[in-house]
Amino acid sequence: MDIKQRFIHIRDFLKKYHYLWEMEIIERYPTLPQEEYTQWAQDLAHYSFDSFTELENKLNFLQAEASFQSFLKELKDLIQLPNKVPSLEESQLKPGVTLKKHHEIECVSSFLQNKSPGRALDFAGGAGHLSHCLTTKNKIQCLCLDSDRTLISKGRQVNSPLIEFRQADIIKDRKTLISMIHPGSLCLGLHSCGNLSNQVIRYFEESSATMLLNFGCCYHKVSDEYNLSQLSQGDPLPLSQHALMLATRSHTIVEPKDLIRREKVKRYRYSLHMLTQDHQLAPHFITLGNAHPTEYELSFAEYANIQFQKVGIEHTFCEEFLNQYFEEKSHEVCFYIRLSLIRNLLGRALELYIILDRAIYLQEKKYNVEVFELFKRELSPRNIGIFATKLSS
Ligand SMILES: C[S@@+](CC[C@H](N)C(=O)[O-])C[C@H]1O[C@@H](n2cnc3c(N)ncnc32)[C@H](O)[C@@H]1O
Repeated sequence: MDIKQRFIHIRDFLKKYHYLWEMEIIERYPTLPQEEYTQWAQDLAHYSFDSFTELENKLNFLQAEASFQSFLKELKDLIQLPNKVPSLEESQLKPGVTLKKHHEIECVSSFLQNKSPGRALDFAGGAGHLSHCLTTKNKIQCLCLDSDRTLISKGRQVNSPLIEFRQADIIKDRKTLISMIHPGSLCLGLHSCGNLSNQVIRYFEESSATMLLNFGCCYHKVSDEYNLSQLSQGDPLPLSQHALMLATRSHTIVEPKDLIRREKVKRYRYSLHMLTQDHQLAPHFITLGNAHPTEYELSFAEYANIQFQKVGIEHTFCEEFLNQYFEEKSHEVCFYIRLSLIRNLLGRALELYIILDRAIYLQEKKYNVEVFELFKRELSPRNIGIFATKLSS
């Protein structure tokens, strides 16, 4: 894969569909989108949750008309990555390790076979499950660093002479930590959230480490630390908090029951938002925290009254009016829910924009860089690894 070319294509594609991902679709209410998107959403209105599952998981929607079909085809090509998911023999789960974590660790261990770094620094390594596997299976010495004292103490309970645990803040303790990176080391970050991935990249860059393997997650925590490469800075794409959140949640396999649950939540949330706009109850979009699942089982009027109370909005509507409003708006609400389904499809492209930019930043520093999928999507959707090595001079 030509990382730069792919990045440029993704940037152009995201620019073209900026309207869809920039903000939550319901925030646009009552303004309707351009004709093309209106048509796409209206077309979706007639189909089942099975077809939406196929759309969200595989970007397949056979019934789509030409412009939606070409949107899906282009997107599918853009998010396709080299697949390095290893075939693993079944092995036993360790106590306290989820199947997801077990899978990730086994994949990383398999990937590192034959790469033999002298030592690995497991940045934000939590309780050291990965470090433990690398010391036992790959015979790599590990230094596991995490700011969480409890996780570090938990890790220390597993007695292994090859792992050292250290409670450290990888942002604040840079000076001390950089001096602990030996020549030939591997800088490792398995789901180093938000900006922490950028920190891991900097440790690699500024030390005598020779390898980097990083998996990002929680992009909504990157604040303004993206558009790192010169290539992106030439024509930077600003990403809103909503867009970063979309990237964080992307690529998760859904089943019809997940979409049914999501639809139920959105029917209530969207109707409430429309009500506040139609009756000028709030000057702008109100961010409602997640309601308790049982609140979506109540009538709309009961749900609305609970939410209004939470955010301190006063009104004089009776229950009958609220329930009738909900019924009358159901078609329109459905339209916005379908648009939001289309918006969800762009999450993986946004994630790739952030990750490829990090990869290009490393290429610009003259490192060898690969970007690929290392975990099975159904177990771990944040499965994109950046592997970089320093060229020997
Ligand atoms: C998503 S978890 C990943 C943990 C581990 N790498 C894994 O895959 O199981 C992120 C970890 O980052 C740690 N963390 C957050 N901020 C940190 C910081 N500034 N310095 C060091 N660790 C930090 C948290 O305590 C947490 O264990």
